Amino acid sequence: MESMKPHLLVIGASGQLGSAILRRIAIEGDIAATAFVRSSSNYQLPSAENISLHTGDLTDFDSVNAACRQKVSHVIATASSIVPRKGDSFGIDDLLFYENIIRACKENHIEHLIYISAFPSPFDDQVPEFVIKRQIEQMIVASGVPYTIFRGAAFMDIYFAVMGSRAVMQGVGHPTLLRGYWLSRLWSSLTSGILEKYGIALLPGNGKTRQSFICIDDVANCMLHAVNQPGLINQIIDLGGPQAISWREVADLYGHLLNKKVMKIPLPIWLLKTLEVIMRKGTPAGANMMSILALLGHYEFTPDMSQLTHQLQIKLTDSRSFIAKKLAETKL
Ligand SMILES: NC(=O)c1ccc[n+]([C@@H]2O[C@H](COP(=O)([O-])OP(=O)(O)OC[C@H]3O[C@@H](n4cnc5c(N)ncnc54)[C@H](OP(=O)(O)O)[C@@H]3O)[C@@H](O)[C@H]2O)c1
Repeated sequence: MESMKPHLLVIGASGQLGSAILRRIAIEGDIAATAFVRSSSNYQLPSAENISLHTGDLTDFDSVNAACRQKVSHVIATASSIVPRKGDSFGIDDLLFYENIIRACKENHIEHLIYISAFPSPFDDQVPEFVIKRQIEQMIVASGVPYTIFRGAAFMDIYFAVMGSRAVMQGVGHPTLLRGYWLSRLWSSLTSGILEKYGIALLPGNGKTRQSFICIDDVANCMLHAVNQPGLINQIIDLGGPQAISWREVADLYGHLLNKKVMKIPLPIWLLKTLEVIMRKGTPAGANMMSILALLGHYEFTPDMSQLTHQLQIKLTDSRSFIAKKLAETKL
């Protein structure tokens, strides 16, 4: 078959990951993309000739189908309502979103659906978001649409902010934590900058659990590199950063780079789990956040990335370089 230049539909374009993907497409300029955005979104499309806008809503199949009909060859999907915007409910519509995406992919013979999921653990059933992600994965796998599913580790941009770093959110157009969900906004308003200003770091669990944190730009890069990679078709791939590092070690990196003594405040698992139970009924998104923090505080997800980085010919950013760059870009 003749190989055509890909045209991507980026679903979740106004989110922190989706907008990073589009920024990269705008800079590289060699592939075309359509950003799928809700009319209520205040998203600013990067001004680049190769990027266009399609207004729609994932709960409305016709709008997804209309977007796919516009010469789209590949779909990159990052959308979710896990951190809901005002007026949205946590997770309720996510299965419908992906039913609609998959149906539109089938009807329009989309060559490749690339989806970001969450890292696997033996405790998936304890995290509502992970239960939803696994269901979406199953729907994609069963659909017959060629797919690549990345199961992402904790994003540096999000979780270093949760620890108290302001620098990692500085200059980000659409930070997930400030999307409008009251608890993530409250957490941010109480803690954003305490790491840089006062040298205080909040650590899930006892802080000794290691994670392969990955930065959002690297996730975006991997998802884009998956386009036209036959070796990644119909694969579920664990995706993490280049090194396993504990929360305490992340706090120490900030200490070294800021030349400050850092006080490490553990968030005990029992506290996170208690908060989760308290929030379960009234604010499921908050309960989900607590259950993820509890999981990240006791379960290590540290995949070996050597095969993927070799296959895609990419280099992943380590935590020290990421933090150093963010601090250098930030006026504190
Ligand atoms: N944070 C982590 O460490 C981590 C790790 C692994 C995987 N992930 C996954 O990565 C994905 C992307 O994360 P992110 O930070 O970019 O998320 P995000 O900032 O919360 O973005 C969510 C996106 O979904 C869109 N969306 C929600 N409802 C929609 C609807 N009805 N129709 C159309 N679009 C809709 C939002 O649009 P609006 O702007 O209109 O609301 C937004 O663009 C998420 O699924 C997350 O679970 C995250």
